[in-house]
Amino acid sequence: MTSRSNGKEQAGASGLPPMSRRAMLAAAAFAPIAVAAGTSGAAAQDIPTDNRVALVTGSSRGIGAAIARRLAEDGFRVAVNCVVNTDLAAGVAADIEAKGGKAIWEQADVSDPAAVKRLFDVTEAAFGGVNIVISNAGIMRLAPFAEMTDEEFNRMIDVNLKGGFHVLREAARRVREGGRIVSLSSSITQLRSPTYGPYAASKAAQDIYSNVLAKELAGRRISVNALAPGLVNTTLFTNGKTEEQIAGFAQRTPHGRIGEPEDIAGVVSALCGPDGWWVNGQTVFANGGVV
Ligand SMILES: NC(=O)c1ccc[n+]([C@@H]2O[C@H](COP(=O)([O-])OP(=O)(O)OC[C@H]3O[C@@H](n4cnc5c(N)ncnc54)[C@H](OP(=O)(O)O)[C@@H]3O)[C@@H](O)[C@H]2O)c1
Repeated sequence: MTSRSNGKEQAGASGLPPMSRRAMLAAAAFAPIAVAAGTSGAAAQDIPTDNRVALVTGSSRGIGAAIARRLAEDGFRVAVNCVVNTDLAAGVAADIEAKGGKAIWEQADVSDPAAVKRLFDVTEAAFGGVNIVISNAGIMRLAPFAEMTDEEFNRMIDVNLKGGFHVLREAARRVREGGRIVSLSSSITQLRSPTYGPYAASKAAQDIYSNVLAKELAGRRISVNALAPGLVNTTLFTNGKTEEQIAGFAQRTPHGRIGEPEDIAGVVSALCGPDGWWVNGQTVFANGGVV
């Protein structure tokens, strides 16, 4: 197991140094990639079952917790993360372990680049590397333009726009060959409802990040996507809304209800499974048809 105590970037357990992308691309150009050959190429893109590690930011509750639990069921050792609710993060990790899985939890504010680096260091120290990163941590502040405060706007940018960048930067440096990176976007980028302007803009950034990063990671067989849920039953969505309002949203959804965190976790599982590998550089809308 690789130990990380000084926070410096080192080679991961796969032997892939974070700064060796140029060498990696050169190697890829001259050496055949054995697993990509043959008709069984899709199945060959699965991550080895004995070496699966997933890091899920913002996984103490809501969608992230469901993703952490689902990836644990899929056989991944999981790093759970929170910013405030350490008790909930510890609970998610304990639930996973109680079911026979392996999990750690770490408090780290994604808006702080040093904290994100530490989150990856701790994960690699515990599990030897990272195969999957789900950049899920996010916040939503809603107000009409005329009423949005600088404080609310800035915090949303710090967590969603900057935080998403910090997580993807570390992921780009460290995710092992053949891995997956998924960033949580939102279907609000299409709906564009009043009061959602800055939040939707911060989520649209995830679409662009993922598409560009997918291209930058060429040669490492890592698929990078944004995942855009619609209305999902978490406090982020339900806070401040009446039961009638939520029922109204459910009625406007072709499937007759709003989403549950497990609906989104199932899509993440598919993207991170062997058959999800060919989906790369996309924004995947998972919203029950609301958009
Ligand atoms: N719910 C929806 O309808 C919906 C729709 C589309 C997209 N999304 C996106 O899906 C993601 C998850 O949303 P959700 O509904 O599950 O939200 P949620 O229930 O409010 O949970 C948010 C999670 O993110 C963590 N978090 C918040 N700020 C953080 C920070 N600075 N650093 C690290 N972790 C942080 C929280 O940790 P603590 O518990 O410690 O606060 C919590 O685990 C978000 O990116 C959101 O934009 C949600």
